[in-house]
Amino acid sequence: MVTEESAEIDVPSGKISKQLGVFYNPVMKLNRDVSVLLLDSVPDKDMQIALPLAGSGVRGIRFFKELKKGKIKSIAFNDYKTSESIKKNLEMNRVKGEVFGKDANMFLLESRGFDYIDIDPFGSPNPFLDSAIVRLARNGILAVTATDTAALAGSSPLACRRKYWAKPLRNEFMHETAIRILIRKVQLVGAEHEKSLRPIFSYSKDHYYRVFLRAEKGRKKADELLKEHAYLLWNRKTQERKVSEHNCLKGFDYAGPMWVGGLWDKKLVKAMLKNSDKDNKKLFGLVSLISEESEIDAVGFYDLHRLSQAKKKPIPKVEDVVRKGVSRTHFLGWGVRTRNSINKIM
Ligand SMILES: C[S@@+](CC[C@H](N)C(=O)[O-])C[C@H]1O[C@@H](n2cnc3c(N)ncnc32)[C@H](O)[C@@H]1O
Repeated sequence: MVTEESAEIDVPSGKISKQLGVFYNPVMKLNRDVSVLLLDSVPDKDMQIALPLAGSGVRGIRFFKELKKGKIKSIAFNDYKTSESIKKNLEMNRVKGEVFGKDANMFLLESRGFDYIDIDPFGSPNPFLDSAIVRLARNGILAVTATDTAALAGSSPLACRRKYWAKPLRNEFMHETAIRILIRKVQLVGAEHEKSLRPIFSYSKDHYYRVFLRAEKGRKKADELLKEHAYLLWNRKTQERKVSEHNCLKGFDYAGPMWVGGLWDKKLVKAMLKNSDKDNKKLFGLVSLISEESEIDAVGFYDLHRLSQAKKKPIPKVEDVVRKGVSRTHFLGWGVRTRNSINKIM
């Protein structure tokens, strides 16, 4: 028996692996904490929720027990391996959801659609994007987890090209590049279906990336979004970087194409910070950091160690550099986000 916040679930003991009958990963508690907080902080009510890869069902059980009244109309749990355990866990927690044991794509395509769909797979979310986007309501929210960080962050660049149609860059801001490449991929699949998917909350943690995107229907909206796909050029020696339509500039390496628009809806981040439980240190810490960095509309950030090295200067403390227009970043402890030029930072 495992207790996670309000939920109690029955899971087999043993090393976490695909082979284990029911999948429960305590490391992903923060991932679920963020989902609960986000759904409580968006204005949406009476939501029809889908968990196509539900695992033990813990996420949905927590939604039932922790979300404010009026938020949920229904929750559909699906998993091709664990539907019997999900049923038991729902009973044990005295909550009622619909449970399916289908392949996730079949489950989605045979449904009538949802306001919130959470794609939480092992590895890449790619196999489920199309059906999730087709079945996402007009103004629905799509949540995507990706754990294939080797591809997205650049240790397997060929895998990134194959799976995400972009070039990654293994450097100090690789996790931000990774999230932006992932977002673009989701948006391209959205565009095929004339849906615009704009990120409202994104973060990188441990071994995974997580993005929440808000849908809007319409060809024009989808076209507009695609205008914010570009390359990020980066000069290793001088630490300069530039957003560009082109991927070629002397002395510069590049990543992309990627999403170069905002990673967060500022209003939502403020609401999340307000609603966040201060005693949940990991969650509060993450949301506090993101609330600072979401104020700065910059693509990429500076690593103070690398920058100091490049400029042959002593390394300053992050706290001493942070001020109006310069924030910390959740992506890197010694990173700063700013629109200022390198000269100004120096
Ligand atoms: C990472 S776990 C899900 C964890 C869960 N969302 C949570 O928050 O605890 C992935 C789950 O997806 C299921 N799964 C993988 N591929 C699937 C598919 N094609 N159709 C249905 N379920 C699938 C696995 O059985 C596994 O339980």
